[in-house]
Amino acid sequence: MELKKIDDLTAFCKRRGFVYPSGEIYGSLAGFWDFGPVGVELKNNIKREWWKFHVNSREDMAGIDGSIITNPKVWEASGHVGSFVDVMVVNRKTKEKTKVDKHELASLGKEWEVKGEFNPMFTTQVGPIKEESTLAYLRPETAQLIFINFKQVQENARLKLPFGIAQIGKAFRNEISPREFLFRSREFEQMEIEYFIAPNQKCPYMDEIKGIKIALLTEEVQKKNQTPKEISILEAFKKKIIKTDWIAYWLAQEYSWFLSLGAAPEKFRARQHTSEERSHYSSDTWDLEYEFPMGWRELQGFANRTDFDLKQHEKFSKKSMAIQDEEFGKVLPHVVCEPSLGVERAFLVFLLSAYEYDKKRENIVLHLDPKLAPYKAAIFPLVSKGEQFEIAREIYRELLEEFNVLFDKSGSIGRRYARNDEIGTPFCITIDEQTAKDKTVTIRERDTTKQIRVKNSELIETLRKLINGKLSFADAGKLNETRKR
Ligand code: GAP
Repeated sequence: MELKKIDDLTAFCKRRGFVYPSGEIYGSLAGFWDFGPVGVELKNNIKREWWKFHVNSREDMAGIDGSIITNPKVWEASGHVGSFVDVMVVNRKTKEKTKVDKHELASLGKEWEVKGEFNPMFTTQVGPIKEESTLAYLRPETAQLIFINFKQVQENARLKLPFGIAQIGKAFRNEISPREFLFRSREFEQMEIEYFIAPNQKCPYMDEIKGIKIALLTEEVQKKNQTPKEISILEAFKKKIIKTDWIAYWLAQEYSWFLSLGAAPEKFRARQHTSEERSHYSSDTWDLEYEFPMGWRELQGFANRTDFDLKQHEKFSKKSMAIQDEEFGKVLPHVVCEPSLGVERAFLVFLLSAYEYDKKRENIVLHLDPKLAPYKAAIFPLVSKGEQFEIAREIYRELLEEFNVLFDKSGSIGRRYARNDEIGTPFCITIDEQTAKDKTVTIRERDTTKQIRVKNSELIETLRKLINGKLSFADAGKLNETRKR
């Protein structure tokens, strides 16, 4: 049974130590959230898997970690000071506040009153004395830190076109109406890539995306109010529905990344921005959308930023942003695709895809991929002192050297299984009478509740393979028929 309401997920996340409203003892603050002991592990694991996939396993990518506050001229050049505006509208009857894009104003009904334009950048001052201080901004996106450092990074990492620069970090937006749990918050994290190419440089990786299919909500399908059809992303590019090879490539990469970590494929679709929505400099923009409990929403954006940002920084800094490339000589690259994803939205996707209320077990089971699971295993001694207990502590200490594992000695075994099912622990290890006799333990698999017996000496290696998907549970040891849960 899947989860139907986002508020139920909010309550679950608080109950199980994933996420709490920030400052709750003082009545909290809308749009700000704190990650608890279980949530911080899941969030870190998502970021680690993203970094491994996008940076560490690619020759054409380098990473940075830019500062949150930078020279305010950066935001003048990027256009955020002048034209990053949200329009606030209020419903005359319900008093509901929301933001709309300027292009949506014409189609708003009479029940909405336009309250004005707001710049969602948070401001602060740099320097202790107000009169002498500089007005500064908390960055509203991580992207600009990539653009301003890009020349230095290209030199240091000796990158050749095409190449990307990736970054994970905090972003801040003073959203008019933060809502839907983590979906729209005022402080969040982004995982962004700026992918640089020589003008018109072709994508050499198109073979890699063969066979990847997704439902496509094209501009035409939206205007005709039709249902999106599933199509191969490569074919959509060949038919010129997706206009650039690089956008098709990155859309397929990102969708595959989500699926490789257990997200539900039927909940995804790709939506083309309509001509009214697109930035003036972008020829084609797509969003990867996900069907959240509150409906279809943007999960990740894929914008074609052309050479707009680098040119703006050239103009404002009066410094050349052109690089010397082995093949293309002196060139000002284009960002033909910017895959930009919010960590918290990915966090929601993985939680929602994993969540199941198991009627038979009468508890929630989070079927998280073991790589994302906050704890890889829980160790249960059957007794709370003596030889068995000491063996359990020893196993726990050994496992801790490599994995984040839990030691859980309180309550019935059934209760301990349920507790760990709910936070997504994929394997539970029980130390029982037999362990002291023959140096074996049982491992119980979260998803099937099946149990196997393995030798203590093989436990670490077995777990390592199970977590990395290199061994199936059925092949990992002798099935133990006696225990049920
Ligand atoms: N650099 C491009 C950029 O920032 P964006 O569409 O404004 O583009 C990119 O944001 C992604 O950041 C979104 O697709 C979403 O995943 C995440 N995001 C944006 N605003 C957010 C908010 N208020 N709360 C949570 N995530 C947000």
